[in-house]
Amino acid sequence: MPRMILPRESRPGKPDQDAGDRSDESPVVPWRKLLAWYRANRREMPWRGSRDPYAVWVSETMLQQTRIETVRGYFERFLAHFPDLRALAAADTADVLKLWEGLGYYSRARNLHAAARRVAESGRFPETAAEWAALPGVGPYTAAALASICADQPEPVVDGNVTRVAMRLRATPGDGRSPQERAAIAAWLRPAITASGAPGDFNQAVMELGETLCSPKAPKCLLCPLRAACRASAKGIPERFPARRPPKALPVRRFFAFIVPDATGRILLAQRPETGLLGGLWELPMAPIVATPGKRNGAAAARRALDALGLQARTLRSLGEIVHVFSHFRQELHVWEAVGAEERRRRKNRSFVHPADVAVATASTRALALCSESRD
Ligand code: ADE
Ligand code: SF4
Repeated sequence: MPRMILPRESRPGKPDQDAGDRSDESPVVPWRKLLAWYRANRREMPWRGSRDPYAVWVSETMLQQTRIETVRGYFERFLAHFPDLRALAAADTADVLKLWEGLGYYSRARNLHAAARRVAESGRFPETAAEWAALPGVGPYTAAALASICADQPEPVVDGNVTRVAMRLRATPGDGRSPQERAAIAAWLRPAITASGAPGDFNQAVMELGETLCSPKAPKCLLCPLRAACRASAKGIPERFPARRPPKALPVRRFFAFIVPDATGRILLAQRPETGLLGGLWELPMAPIVATPGKRNGAAAARRALDALGLQARTLRSLGEIVHVFSHFRQELHVWEAVGAEERRRRKNRSFVHPADVAVATASTRALALCSESRD
């Protein structure tokens, strides 16, 4: 069946008829309220309200990697120089790039220019998303945005903002990055876009919600027109959708770390070499753990490690473990307090200092906090 777009006056009238998918997993979303919110609250931009494919194309291309507020001025200057497709097609590449200066991702400008020449030759603008996507530099989001805004095609834009909104509404598990997850979101949105009668505004409303209220870290659900239907908000944890990517499985490096105080309260710290990881920072004396110590031999293994560091102690007391994540490994510190310790052998780069007087590596600072906690 061909897809039909109903003109606005004749679209279905009952408020819940444009509610999208009704299956058990999907909330009934009052998309109509979202459209009303968008029309009342959208940030005014020079291309908003336009259906001129040329102007919308320029704006969507600029918006690909750039914030909407930054784009405004560039868009206005660009259109002042190249008011229509023919002007852009006839321009020198150098002049096009000059107007793009500062926006970055200059391949966008080169592609736009090349594509404008092609469209000018063909004599008509693309209409469907597939036609748009055949042009250089027009990816699937931009193609869907252009087809919906300029030609009322019910093509969902599924970019990062839309993905976040959709996954929150349905409290969908997953990180939302796979093509399968994106396709499922598109399939869920498609009937709602069709029913809305206003595909361009629909897509822009979801994008705008994702860029403003439904932000990644602190969504403003209390202001959101879709809150009553939103599963993630109902759970009270909207910011946990989409789930963060599971952390890379990093190799683990285990160390004993010893807190060795002297009689005056100073702590034995070692300064790392100037170059390399944490260059020049101070840290607790540490020794690699070769085998994971079991509960029974933990203290014995710790004592041997302490000995290898040229130290001895009256008593060793386990304070617990710290995990510190570096870019390429996880550091696990098994922290022991060495009471009544002595340095049998001095080591260069190692001395008793007040930790507040030197730059201490974060993992060691956290280990030292274990020691003060255990005294509270
Ligand atoms: N981001 C990219 N294109 C947009 C548009 N047309 N409206 C809102 N946000 C956008
Ligand atoms: Fe996003 Fe909150 Fe609105 Fe749900 S209620 S769509 S989490 S802003």
